[in-house]
Amino acid sequence: TFVVGENCIKCKYTDCVEVCPVDCFYEGPNFLVIHPDECIDCALCEPECPANAIFSEDEVPEDQQEFIELNAQLAEVWDNITEKKDAPGDADEWNGVEGKLQHLEK
Ligand code: SF4
Ligand code: F3S
Repeated sequence: TFVVGENCIKCKYTDCVEVCPVDCFYEGPNFLVIHPDECIDCALCEPECPANAIFSEDEVPEDQQEFIELNAQLAEVWDNITEKKDAPGDADEWNGVEGKLQHLEK
């Protein structure tokens, strides 16, 4: 499965959802997740993310391992998203900022 990592938080560009053939992205207030049971590992979303926030499960950085479980948990409670929408106005300012997990809204 593929996993959305920390740099999506407060960036949420949503380019990823447009290319997913099985529509397995789920949306929270300032972050998106992938449903691990629905993702077919096609890898199409990974290069679409302007924040480079999407990883194959076996390539998730060491310091972001908790995002694997976070994607699985939040995909069960958040709503499906299949169409791109405007990113937050300050998305570019947050792109690359470290330690964004503390800003995750659930
Ligand atoms: Fe969707 Fe493919 Fe990305 Fe999985 S790897 S979330 S199936 S686009
Ligand atoms: Fe997030 Fe990148 Fe998609 S910032 S919403 S994973 S395009």
